[in-house]
Amino acid sequence: MKIYATYNIKGGVGKTTAAVNLAYLSAADGYRTLLWDLDPQGAASFLFRIKPRVKGGGKALIRGTKALDDAIKGTDFEHLDLLPADFTYRNMDLILGDASKKPTRKIAQLLRPLATEYDRVFLDCPPSISLVSENVMHAADVLLVPLIPTTLSVRTLDQLTEFVADFNGHRPEVRAFFSMVDRRKRLHQETTEKLLAERPGVAATPIPALSLIERMSVERAPVAAFAPNSQAARAFRALWTELSEPAPVVAAKR
Ligand SMILES: Nc1ncnc2c1ncn2[C@@H]1O[C@H](COP(=O)(O)OP(=O)(O)OP(=O)(O)O)[C@@H](O)[C@H]1O
Ligand SMILES: [Mg+2]
Repeated sequence: MKIYATYNIKGGVGKTTAAVNLAYLSAADGYRTLLWDLDPQGAASFLFRIKPRVKGGGKALIRGTKALDDAIKGTDFEHLDLLPADFTYRNMDLILGDASKKPTRKIAQLLRPLATEYDRVFLDCPPSISLVSENVMHAADVLLVPLIPTTLSVRTLDQLTEFVADFNGHRPEVRAFFSMVDRRKRLHQETTEKLLAERPGVAATPIPALSLIERMSVERAPVAAFAPNSQAARAFRALWTELSEPAPVVAAKR
């Protein structure tokens, strides 16, 4: 079982959009895939037309009084299941802190038994740096980091990479990709080129800013499901192909 998490400390950069589309593509390839919507806003649950509700809330899941299995729902798509959001996830930091002696490893521990049922798990994180995000970093094999190509986003990536490098033991691979790219903007172009040349693990396939991607919230489906031949669907497919391969080794400049 391979665990991917879409993560960025910043909000509104395309984490949920990526989690929904990449999980859909993983399932379409025949991999048994689970998406856990960890964000109390419940955007990923909404996009899959699933009520953002877990009986007993986050507390029951984290304390283990309710097995993750019992909260999982099927989606409209073969091989793709969803563990919905719940509004109580807004208190997840407190729940995690109370529930465990190792509060940063709890989510990893809860996911372990799912390895017989799923090939891939996607975690869609809320935008923050918190106990929840630290849990996600410990659980994930790969952190997928959407970056809107501006100078500040480069800083965010560097901060995240440094944070992960300081972990003892398990360190997720950090794979960044460009999100909401506007080719007409010079800054987007310059930043993209600079990052590709200088930072390891940055995917070359960009996700352009496209109104069809915004339409996902109207269609309530991944873009590859309602517009399979669109530029948007092709971009996510190409990104997923690239991310499925090991990152090329590039010397990091300091
Ligand atoms: N490539 C894109 N082109 C156009 N619109 C996009 C693109 N990616 C995402 N959006 C839109 O931008 C908004 C934010 O995207 P999304 O919800 O995926 O970001 P997020 O990082 O998960 O946000 P949050 O931090 O609130 O969880 C949504 O309305 C989404 O439809
Ligand atoms: Mg989101």
